[in-house]
Amino acid sequence: MCGIVGYIGCEQAAPILLEGLKRLEYRGYDSAGISIYQETIQTIKTKGRLADLEEKVNQLGGAMGNMGIGHTRWATHGVPSDINSHPHLSQNGRISLVHNGIIENYMELKKFLIEQGRTFVSDTDSEIAAQLFDYYYQGDMVDALIHMIEKIRGSYAFGIMCRDKPDELVAVRKDSPLLVGIGADGNFIGSDIPALLEYTRDYYLLEDNEIVLLKKNEVTVYNLEKNIIKKEIFHVDWDISSAEKGGYDYFMMKEIMEQPEALRKTLFPRITEDGIQLDGVHFTKEDIDAIGRIHIVACGSAWHASVVGKYVIEELTRIPVEVDLASEFRYRNPILNKGDLCVIVSQSGETADTLAALREAKRQGIRVLAIVNVVGSSIAREADDVIYTWAGPEIAVATTKGYTTQLAVMYLIGLYFSYEKGRISKEQLLQYCKALHEIPQGTEKLLVLDERMSQLAKVYAHSKDVFILGRGIDYAAAMESSLKLKEISYIHSEAYAAGELKHGTISLIEDGTLVIAVATQSHLFEKLLSNIKEVKARGAKVIAIAIEGNKDIETVADEVVYIPETENIFTASYNIIPMQLLSYYIAVERGCDVDKPRNLAKSVTVE
Ligand code: F6R
Repeated sequence: MCGIVGYIGCEQAAPILLEGLKRLEYRGYDSAGISIYQETIQTIKTKGRLADLEEKVNQLGGAMGNMGIGHTRWATHGVPSDINSHPHLSQNGRISLVHNGIIENYMELKKFLIEQGRTFVSDTDSEIAAQLFDYYYQGDMVDALIHMIEKIRGSYAFGIMCRDKPDELVAVRKDSPLLVGIGADGNFIGSDIPALLEYTRDYYLLEDNEIVLLKKNEVTVYNLEKNIIKKEIFHVDWDISSAEKGGYDYFMMKEIMEQPEALRKTLFPRITEDGIQLDGVHFTKEDIDAIGRIHIVACGSAWHASVVGKYVIEELTRIPVEVDLASEFRYRNPILNKGDLCVIVSQSGETADTLAALREAKRQGIRVLAIVNVVGSSIAREADDVIYTWAGPEIAVATTKGYTTQLAVMYLIGLYFSYEKGRISKEQLLQYCKALHEIPQGTEKLLVLDERMSQLAKVYAHSKDVFILGRGIDYAAAMESSLKLKEISYIHSEAYAAGELKHGTISLIEDGTLVIAVATQSHLFEKLLSNIKEVKARGAKVIAIAIEGNKDIETVADEVVYIPETENIFTASYNIIPMQLLSYYIAVERGCDVDKPRNLAKSVTVE
């Protein structure tokens, strides 16, 4: 969603802000702006892309100054426009503010400010914050910020500067991401680490309502009582290249190719000679035996990984698993019983609905285990236990390595719980561990399908509809395949449990319709074969995904893509790889902006 960058230091601020905002582009935006301080505050903003902003900055002579704040906006209150873009100024021009989040009581605050004689120029909730800050400002930025957030209900990350304070910048966050970068020649705020990685590897991760006062060579963090909080430095050793395209045309392809490595990092430290070792979780055998039901909650692809998780965990542990969309779970007053476990899955760790679902589970006194990629994110911090996916930064809007590493963690949890419950023997556990250990290499092998998928993409790039069929785990995998295809190529696509075809969908199959059949569950293979014959008889073109060595499928499908042999419960990890590649190449073939599909944002930090 919106992105924030701020800088105060010895360097020119504008290039740093523009560069940082570029690295936040992946979050999705429709307008952008910066404010730079030099004797006064100069604000430049525009609807459109960052290139438009850069051009405007250059036309105005580059905006000189060593302190500034920048923002990419993804419209919520008010259409995308120059006026609604951030930074927002107070009426007297004294305060400049950037905001990410939603101010829920902005109508009430606006009314109050109008009564104080203030007028507004934009339709945004964020302008209210700029005015409110100014209303409370009496010479001390921290005091004004404390007063302001006491009045605001909602979610926020704010970066604020004041015309009277040439060497101070303040920031705060609540339910919206923001971190502080500590540099040698200056200090930063940013919505995420990649935005600042070029300048520093040392960060303060902020808790809700911790207030930061940044100066050129000093950062002080306060609580709401204005007591100083001592923060630990969080050091990241990511290479800058891990936040760049590394020679690929798109981040998505880079991230597809990074999957073997991401899977190694996620799996290998947790697979020992003795079985599974889960860092970050503290479940005794008694804890696991006491779990009556597992509720897995997530959005989008993370929800798809959760559906696979349900099949795997139920199969291995016989603990009933319910899977919920976070946006449903949070409002449906879910029945959670003592002893239930809630598993929250999120790549970003900041998805608003998922975070709210976590809080609902905690409100009902249920233990929460989070599967998260972004270290120090809100979900990671609020969960009782966290298992990180170690996929590294994921920039492309469409998740790839985020999803496959989530699957890997589902397997680890399933096996760990199963063994502790005595459902599988040591020998079976080690057998599964061996198969698990092979997944990164199997994935690597599948990536050589690159060329073939690009050829198939040329043939099918102009399909109108694509149906993806599967049974059992293959159905769960089909859902993610379908999402990958539709979100980046804009081709209508649906996943179907193959047994459901006859209950309606088959009427949509006509001559030439592309059907992708995921056929990797050995015990369901015969049944799926019949479904393939049914669609073939109605003129469909069929691409099948099957296990290496399965020749029967070649007699019915037009094309067969083989995946390496593995345990039935692990096939989702392989099925998705050819589908990621096919979706990517179809999107490229259709001229789509692969990394930034229309209308989508990477991190959905508002409802
Ligand atoms: C699709 C995709 C989204 C996310 C969803 C949840 O490719 O990436 O569907 O999976 O928005 O995001 P996280 O995992 O960050 O909570």
